[in-house]
Amino acid sequence: MKHIILMGFMGCGKSTVGYKLSNKLRKTLLDTDSLIEQKEGISISDIFATKGEEYFRELEVSCLKELKNESESSVISLGGGTPLREVNRPLIKELGTVIYLKATPKTIYERTKNNTKRPLLQCENPKERIEQLLEQRNPVYESLADAVVCVDGKQSYEVVNYILKEVLHENISN
Ligand code: S3P
Repeated sequence: MKHIILMGFMGCGKSTVGYKLSNKLRKTLLDTDSLIEQKEGISISDIFATKGEEYFRELEVSCLKELKNESESSVISLGGGTPLREVNRPLIKELGTVIYLKATPKTIYERTKNNTKRPLLQCENPKERIEQLLEQRNPVYESLADAVVCVDGKQSYEVVNYILKEVLHENISN
């Protein structure tokens, strides 16, 4: 089944863009972080705090494997670190069209600085952490992407319209 997969670093807008895109396309939005939270019955922050990051990464693998069985074509928003595990990469590619929402460290910092729900950025120097993680992750995101959309300076509706027109070649006016 061909899904539309939104991938990218924390704060790049996957959830907001995913919500708006799924509405326009009249598709269901599946968000891996939300699916994991529902299944575990606790928040991502609590999973990191009580069971650790490795446990969370295992949950991401299981979540992707389950998405393979999803028969309805959907918009899927991935957690920022989901493509890190090598085992996840072919699983992501098999799901459908992978769109990388690309942002600079500056954009990401601005968009995440007031949010406390991302355990990896609750550190002394989040700016530096963002730069380090993005440097490691960008090549992975690039290698998986069917399309790369730069989101710096763009509102979510602009990103959605760009995806509809330039990536999916959909002609939706409403
Ligand atoms: C993570 C990103 C988060 C969430 C977790 C780890 C990451 O999702 O999965 O905090 O490693 O980049 P968002 O990208 O939706 O913030």
